[in-house]
Amino acid sequence: MDWGMENRMSRLIQSDGRCLFLPIDHGYFQGPTRKLEKPGETIEPLLPYCDALFVTRGVLRSALDPNNAKPIILRVSGGTSMVGADLANEGITTSMEEAIRLNVSAVGISIFVGTDYEHDSLLNLAKLVDEGEKYGIPVMAVTAVGKELEKRDARYLGLCSRIAAELGARVVKTYWCEEFDKVTEGCPVPVVMAGGPKVDTELEVFEFVYDGIQKGAIGVNLGRNVWQNEFPVAAIKALRAVIHENATPQQAQDIYDSVKSGKQE
Ligand code: 5RP
Repeated sequence: MDWGMENRMSRLIQSDGRCLFLPIDHGYFQGPTRKLEKPGETIEPLLPYCDALFVTRGVLRSALDPNNAKPIILRVSGGTSMVGADLANEGITTSMEEAIRLNVSAVGISIFVGTDYEHDSLLNLAKLVDEGEKYGIPVMAVTAVGKELEKRDARYLGLCSRIAAELGARVVKTYWCEEFDKVTEGCPVPVVMAGGPKVDTELEVFEFVYDGIQKGAIGVNLGRNVWQNEFPVAAIKALRAVIHENATPQQAQDIYDSVKSGKQE
């Protein structure tokens, strides 16, 4: 691996081989989604506990302090919205030149396998990888499922993840599912898990993250279940313990409860 590529990867994946990425890119198709109306305010208390931020250039420039920043994974695909015809019809929205100017550690793009736009999104990924490799910038592929969350099974997510890796993604973001080892075992590059829409209890999140890590994921790219939680700092500290300290779901719950009640900072 080239020095630049390796250096960027090492900013993202920590020395224990794990990572906690915090995505705040949702506005690129959801608009001012709940708790992310003012992204800078939402993430300020969370910054010390994440390893990298997944963000668009607009929020990066308007809400993040360049003097006190975490490594950045720049969201470079988009062009669709919640109210438009098809979320899968994304293009590349940001050039590699811009990514370099912003000094990012990686770029991220969604792929939509099994949709009408499968071909376009996969070729977009391949072209982005060509550009990224030229300059030593890793590409994270996001295996998007659009509104069809029922597609979250090991066969489908394993297919998407493997295709993303075959096309050159250096990291693949996918969803947790039952039999998650089938996804990680079929994917030759590191896999991180997204959270999806906010679930009812924190414990559910700690359980699936724990299970995914045991089954080969290196960490998360998990947003709404952190910053839409009533106690986001408690949630991210507990998740950090699962990822970086091998805490069990119950230990994570104990951390959550004690931060929430003010017994632990
Ligand atoms: C949104 C994304 C997010 O980065 C990804 O879905 C992770 O966020 P969450 O945990 O909220 O699902 O790609 O477009």
